[in-house]
Amino acid sequence: MQTLTLTQPDDWHLHVRTGDMLKTVINHTARQCARAIIMPNLQPPVTNVEQAQHYQQEIQQATDSQYDFTPLMVLYLTNETSPEDVKKAAESSFIHAFKLYPAGATTNSAQGVTNLPALFPTIAAMEKHDVPLLIHGEVTDAEIDIFDRERLFIETKLSLLQKHFPNLRIVLEHVTTKDAVDFVESASDKIAATITPQHLLYNRNAILVGGIKPHYYCLPILKRESHRLALVKAATSGNPKFFLGTDSAPHLSHLKENSCGCAGCYSAYATIELYAEAFEQAGALNKLEGFASFYGADFYRLPRNTRKITLEKTDWQVPDHYLVAEQQLTPLKAGETLHWKLQG
Ligand code: NCD
Ligand code: ZN
Repeated sequence: MQTLTLTQPDDWHLHVRTGDMLKTVINHTARQCARAIIMPNLQPPVTNVEQAQHYQQEIQQATDSQYDFTPLMVLYLTNETSPEDVKKAAESSFIHAFKLYPAGATTNSAQGVTNLPALFPTIAAMEKHDVPLLIHGEVTDAEIDIFDRERLFIETKLSLLQKHFPNLRIVLEHVTTKDAVDFVESASDKIAATITPQHLLYNRNAILVGGIKPHYYCLPILKRESHRLALVKAATSGNPKFFLGTDSAPHLSHLKENSCGCAGCYSAYATIELYAEAFEQAGALNKLEGFASFYGADFYRLPRNTRKITLEKTDWQVPDHYLVAEQQLTPLKAGETLHWKLQG
């Protein structure tokens, strides 16, 4: 049987929620990954070191003891985050970044930032203390077309940040456009990007052709095929600026299959298998390990993992749903066949 052995990956962008949802999803990730950057968009958001410590403990308690898994915590940037908050975060051993959500951009972003320039002293503190800033890069103006929101964020906001803070380490999260790829490629080595499995595997037809398919709806929204091709090229190029971040964002099935369904794809159940699918389609399985297991750790200045995982080339069927207490969580590719399977 064909197999593929890799250094264990990490997930550099992950939503795990709390309570019953956390108990279901965290062990899917812990089976696959050694570490994950945990998104702070809870309700209320994780905005200070104490809250992050409590959240980290809740995650550790929900993780099965058979796994050696480390949640890497992130603080949610609000209009009130001060340079002093940044200093405290930098001094803690377990906070690895701040996350910028433009207010209204996505799930639980209402407490996000409304006026970026007003926060420049706080961002200057991140640059000074060398704490990475993770960015949901979409403008939120009502009149801007949803398919243009990432490009306009880059043109109007990110370029400003880059100009004012040339030494700030930035991760442009879940990039979805050729514009974002071009920007990151031409920027300094302080700027990197994560890419999700759904943006490598699908274009916007997946949401809209043959009926509305809510389980492909995430933010930033899937774009047209030319953008998907640019993302595949970037991910499989061996350029260390691009690395794995699933943006696995679980919502109960009934909240997505809804007249106002929420944004997020659940992919953590098959993190490495989904990327293997995309890299194999591109004829670039030899580039998977760098993307999944090396470049993110290097960017965050953490040691690379040493444990190995093995994938087998064997078909398996994705469940129609996972259970969250008595309710359902529909995974990306529910009921479909995946061609790579993680051993163990
Ligand atoms: C995320 C969520 O549900 O928390 N949703 C999504 O579509 N990606 C939020 C986010 O990362 O935008
Ligand atoms: Zn996210």
